[in-house]
Amino acid sequence: MHVAMIGTGYVGLVSGACFSEFGTDVICVDKDASKIERLEQGIMPIYEPGLDLLVENNVKAGRLHFTTDLKKGVKDADVVFIAVGTPTRRGDGHADLSYVYAAAEEIAEAMDGFTVIVTKSTVPVGTGREVERIIRAKRPDAEFAVVSNPEFLREGSAIGDFMRPDRVVIGTSNERARAVMSDLYRPLYLIETPIVFTTRETSEMIKYAANTFLAAKITFINEIADLCEKVGADVHDVARGIGLDGRIGKKFLHPGPGYGGSCFPKDTLALVRTAQEHNSPLRIIETVVSVNDRRKKAMADRIIAACGGSVEGKTIGILGLAFKPNTDDMRDSPSLDVVPALLAAGATVRAYDPEAMEEAAKLLDGLTFCESAFETIEGADAMVILTEWNEFRGLNLKRVKAALKSPVVVDLRNVYEPREMKENGFEYSCIGRGA
Ligand code: UGA
Repeated sequence: MHVAMIGTGYVGLVSGACFSEFGTDVICVDKDASKIERLEQGIMPIYEPGLDLLVENNVKAGRLHFTTDLKKGVKDADVVFIAVGTPTRRGDGHADLSYVYAAAEEIAEAMDGFTVIVTKSTVPVGTGREVERIIRAKRPDAEFAVVSNPEFLREGSAIGDFMRPDRVVIGTSNERARAVMSDLYRPLYLIETPIVFTTRETSEMIKYAANTFLAAKITFINEIADLCEKVGADVHDVARGIGLDGRIGKKFLHPGPGYGGSCFPKDTLALVRTAQEHNSPLRIIETVVSVNDRRKKAMADRIIAACGGSVEGKTIGILGLAFKPNTDDMRDSPSLDVVPALLAAGATVRAYDPEAMEEAAKLLDGLTFCESAFETIEGADAMVILTEWNEFRGLNLKRVKAALKSPVVVDLRNVYEPREMKENGFEYSCIGRGA
């Protein structure tokens, strides 16, 4: 079995490396020559725990290859994955499919013999049909099938998620393609991974329904957290108390500054647009989008309130800039709202993130980047935890207190226990723990 992976972004690179780890021969294709060159030297374009070693081992074993030459990659492939970006299109919130369709055109020209073309990128319902139409128009007699196989991995735990998924979804009505896909995912049979075979449209819909549901779940607990503060309840106990009900489930009930990242903001918006176009509006998700947007903006106000109503002339030390830990991804990170709002309110902002400062520097200015948590908070009027990196979870509280000019801690990820912080003399605020 030969696999070609078109696009070496998060999903493409991780999926390609993991398939090769399963023993399949994989060639990863990308137009970006310098990215391919660096990958060949073992330099990863993203920070993802374990990825460098996985790539190195499989390149050494001769199962994982990189190229800029799509034709070469696709010619011998039994399965071609399209894993290119589908960013939000400017102006209308739809997913921009131009990269997907351009890849389809090129694949059509290069494929040879029965080929299964798989959309791995998150694509709106109907995209598989359009990809098939594009290829068929170019190659009327070719033998091929277009399959949907969405990816559910999370950044920061991408390899584990890919290797031990909750399920695999495969959308096709073509029996030959189904057999090929079964074969490809055979290594997961051993760990009894459920494989959901369905139609292409349903599979495309499953991906959006999953992401928008999770975004709604987070937004729900965020609003419950705000209410907990008002009524003197503890959202952690509420989340546990409801999450133990198997119908609800305990995951994704952690309150915070609002969801960010490359997927939830983009996918919620895209599904809202699709639903509006089909005159079947998704009002819950429309509300989730606007509540989450407002939430990210409101986080700066929380910090300002914790600083006594003004940050004018004050120094705020921010720990964490990435949208979540274990990634250097800054896309739609809450820090992109918080930092400019604090600067506009007259604060001096110092920040530290273990991996994301290079990315952050491309998107944020007017702040000072520091080398460590303690350098960031030295002499600051407040410490703000914006991303729950492990190294911020167990800070020496005595040292924190000594470093800060005033003992104000705003913990937007609920890393610390309110009681302990108060006992240590901090003016501590977090999210939804009013009890
Ligand atoms: C998300 C999904 O979880 C994956 O299943 C999916 O494959 C991926 O999108 C995608 O479509 O590619 P990801 O964006 O990497 O994965 O990260 P998550 O762990 O889902 O976090 C998303 C955002 O929600 C982060 O800002 C995180 O801080 C926030 N979050 C998550 C919370 O605020 N509370 C929670 O309980 C969980």
